Amino acid sequence: MSDDRIVAAASTGLEEEVDATLRPRRMREFLGQQRVVAQLEVYLEAARGRGEACDHVLLAGPPGLGKTSLAHILANEMGSQIHTISGPALEKKGDMAAILTALEPRDVLFIDEIHRTPRAIEELLYGAMEDRVIDIVIGSGPGARTLRLDLQPFTLVGATTRAGMLTKPLHDRFGIQFRLEHYLPDDLARIVRRSAQILGLVVTAEAADAVARRSRGTPRIANRLLRRVRDVAQVRGILEVDDVAAAQALDFLQVDADGLDHADRTILQAIGVTFGGGPVGLSTLAVALGEDEGTLEEVYEPYLIQRGLIQRTPRGRVLTARGRETVGIEPAPDAPALFR
Ligand SMILES: Nc1ncnc2c1ncn2[C@@H]1O[C@H](COP(=O)(O)OP(=O)(O)OP(=O)(O)O)[C@@H](O)[C@H]1O
Ligand SMILES: [Mg+2]
Repeated sequence: MSDDRIVAAASTGLEEEVDATLRPRRMREFLGQQRVVAQLEVYLEAARGRGEACDHVLLAGPPGLGKTSLAHILANEMGSQIHTISGPALEKKGDMAAILTALEPRDVLFIDEIHRTPRAIEELLYGAMEDRVIDIVIGSGPGARTLRLDLQPFTLVGATTRAGMLTKPLHDRFGIQFRLEHYLPDDLARIVRRSAQILGLVVTAEAADAVARRSRGTPRIANRLLRRVRDVAQVRGILEVDDVAAAQALDFLQVDADGLDHADRTILQAIGVTFGGGPVGLSTLAVALGEDEGTLEEVYEPYLIQRGLIQRTPRGRVLTARGRETVGIEPAPDAPALFR
């Protein structure tokens, strides 16, 4: 379902390079998410003051909201090295053991997509996180013996779009846990203005607002739209992007005023048309859309809920009056007020 999303939050190879130039490196460059930033600053200062590693941090939230950026910022603010690995890419316990034993004091081990870490490796992490030791088995058969290795104090930063898929033992070993929410329009506009400056693009405050409004609360999408706006401005010889030029460029990209894309509309339409406005259970909806339940719930729905387009009720998902309006569906005559 997520193919060719112009506003898709997942990053593609080429754009990652530009992402890297726009990625905030220090805490002060990380805009928005004030509660997370404020708390993390306190924890980092405290850890630095004690000369210790920061406690393990779990960062959960939909794609493109800044999890990877925060992991790097954490390492930078601690003045330490970051080592990045991807959960599903970890195969052998020996590889994980080698990575863990090579960590220097206060280093950051960043495990992306940590919910996809194989179980055997995850079990190795339990002891590493809690007691800073790993047990490895040497040899096989009757002569096999277990060797316990001590590790340096380190910080494991785990990122996941699917916090619900983490096992409890792993989840509980993160002393610090944050859930990143979609950004408020003002914060997103600040991010757009910062990115424009880095890209050498002159945008008015109104133009930044226009890009922010259509970015479904997601910095990565805001940056991506901004780059397309830059393309259009360049080709048309526009030196200063104002709201009119921004709106033209965004219309050209077929991103609507709510920042909804094809996948979002498909979900709204399924609830509205196929299931008569709901309530429809998550599993039924997932089957109808050919999408995985957890992805629907943790990746697609948060923004639709935040925008007041759908609601989660005990009996299932329902389309709100705004949701109906958005996909142009007439309300049922007997619908309760909220859904009319
Ligand atoms: N708070 C922020 N301030 C400024 N820019 C941000 C912020 N958060 C994210 N960005 C921008 O958005 C881009 C995507 O963020 P990032 O890669 O950290 O997201 P992510 O949560 O790791 O996504 P994924 O789940 O897909 O891995 C970054 O390259 C950066 O340019
Ligand atoms: Mg990431």
